[in-house]
Amino acid sequence: MTTEPASPAAPAPERPGLVATYRRLWPYLWPHGRADLQRRVYLAFGLLLVAKLATMVMPFTFKWATDALVAAVGGHADGVPAGLIAAPMLLIGAYGLARIVMVGLTQVRDGLFAKVAMHAVRRLALQTFEHMHRLSLRFHLERKTGGLTRVLERGRGGIEELSRLMVLTLVPTIVEFALVLGVLAYEFDWHYSAVVLVMVVAYLSFTYKATEWRIGIRRRMNASDTDANTKAVDSLLNFETVKYFGAESRETARYDESMARYEKASTQTYVSLAVLNAGQAVIFTLGMTAVMWLAARDIMAGRTTIGGFVLANTMLVQLSMPLNFMGMIYREIKQALIDIDDMFRILHRNPEIADRPDASPLAVGNAEVRFEDVHFAYNPDRPILRGVSFTVGPGKTVAIVGPSGAGKSTLSRLLFRFYEPQNGRIAIDGQDIASVRQDSLRAAVGMVPQDTVLFNDTIGYNIRYGRWEASDAEVREAARLAQIDRFIEGLPEGYDTPVGERGLKLSGGEKQRVAIARTILKGPPILVLDEATSALDSFTEREIQHALDQVSRGRTTLVIAHRLSTVVNADEILVLDRGVIVERGTHGALLARGGTYAALWNRQREADAAREALKRAEDREEDREEAGAPSAQRDAVAAE
Ligand SMILES: Nc1ncnc2c1ncn2[C@@H]1O[C@H](COP(=O)(O)OP(=O)(O)O)[C@@H](O)[C@H]1O
Ligand SMILES: [Mg+2]
Repeated sequence: MTTEPASPAAPAPERPGLVATYRRLWPYLWPHGRADLQRRVYLAFGLLLVAKLATMVMPFTFKWATDALVAAVGGHADGVPAGLIAAPMLLIGAYGLARIVMVGLTQVRDGLFAKVAMHAVRRLALQTFEHMHRLSLRFHLERKTGGLTRVLERGRGGIEELSRLMVLTLVPTIVEFALVLGVLAYEFDWHYSAVVLVMVVAYLSFTYKATEWRIGIRRRMNASDTDANTKAVDSLLNFETVKYFGAESRETARYDESMARYEKASTQTYVSLAVLNAGQAVIFTLGMTAVMWLAARDIMAGRTTIGGFVLANTMLVQLSMPLNFMGMIYREIKQALIDIDDMFRILHRNPEIADRPDASPLAVGNAEVRFEDVHFAYNPDRPILRGVSFTVGPGKTVAIVGPSGAGKSTLSRLLFRFYEPQNGRIAIDGQDIASVRQDSLRAAVGMVPQDTVLFNDTIGYNIRYGRWEASDAEVREAARLAQIDRFIEGLPEGYDTPVGERGLKLSGGEKQRVAIARTILKGPPILVLDEATSALDSFTEREIQHALDQVSRGRTTLVIAHRLSTVVNADEILVLDRGVIVERGTHGALLARGGTYAALWNRQREADAAREALKRAEDREEDREEAGAPSAQRDAVAAE
């Protein structure tokens, strides 16, 4: 099963047909244990039959009315029920009544069935959403989030469309068609039914062929339309660049090229639509003419009445209406099948990381974390970790430092079991994390990441995310420990302040403190801080460092650090470089050794000192300007 987004070069994946898709959808459309929904399905189909019978009555009212009228103006009126001859007007009324019954029942049926279809939509969408959360991080990194939500949205639309088209259009048309064949054979003779059968088969196969052909043309038209738009947008966005290189005429020519393709494809679309419509009309008219010819012949032979002629005509005109939509219905059903299939493909994708059948919950005692000779690669041809071993003793703090890209964050992802090492193992209190239940593992480990993304809700909601059932007092206590309580209480709406999308209304330091507060609330025995402060300036960092020291007190902690000054107190420091631990020891020991760590330390110290000096100089500059700069000069600057 592939889930790669189809690239234009790749051949289109094999799609299941209508029947196969229905078989997969059936358990959702026929909900077991939901007698109320099942009753609705029966009722909807019952109403469908009644509505179609009413549809069949309509041509008959015309027939009788015609024969009655013919009799009233002095002709013969054979075959008209006695008593109705005097009442052609009544028959016209009956026609109106039958039509109202037909339309009314159709609407009631649609309303009844909507609940069944929407219930199926909801259940499948929910299952897919749940499953998406179960799939691995790798899957999510490879697919854009927008792409996933689009699959969900289109799949939902597809199910709705498919059940609507099938139950409300396709099946009724088939029922009506069968009734028409029966009525024609009964009222006249089998020649009529044979002609209509041949006509409808020819009509449908022509529509199928022509629609298949048109789908390709329409796809080309849409592609060239998108292409022309992209070119225009890109060109106008690059307005300045175009001017720098005097490339207006080249840009225009490029746009014209796309527009030429669009012109050609849309012309083809219109021409093909004309071909489709003309072909359908010809086939239908041939069938209609043949039936009318038969009827005319039978009238002259005295086998039927003028009313019979009207009956056949009305019935065929009625049938032409649903037939007319068949091309569109076929196209939409086909699209719905593709959309539903995309959704099912995700639903049937096995999670890369799954609990073993015999997985037991992690039993956390002292919370000792041990990496044993861990080898790992995201892609087999590029090893990231090459034999990493270390132990974080109960309640101890181990720091990992090293250049960016060394594999530090990868260690934390492995500890969370977002991925599994190819070799070696990771154990918590002696239990291999690959053999315990994922939910118990993730409950035991807390994480403060480098970039905190918050939910678009209130501050209170985001802190409480750490432990949903926490009391308000506990939330406030966590905020206090993370040193964000005073900030929150200073806000007009306090804990109910919305944080905006991705938490954009908070500063980096505030967001980070919310992340710390929710981890404190979660209260995990093991803690990972992955460069939790490196996105912040050094002043904010120092403030937050204090909060972080609070959280890690008494917890087994793995600190991944960017700035070495934040880890001087760690029990052990590991220097990771290209997936190997090149040095390890305490801050003092590593400095004394004079190796990589010592060199890094000295470089950062110098950089920090230089930055501090620069900042002090800038501050002095600002002070001076504010005190004495002539106001005219400042206005000039402001005007710019
Ligand atoms: N999902 C991924 N797929 C492939 N390569 C990845 C993935 N995530 C990270 N890498 C690569 O693994 C290496 C280590 O990444 P990481 O552990 O994030 O480094 P850091 O030490 O800076 O935290 C980097 O070279 C990165 O490009
Ligand atoms: Mg990292």
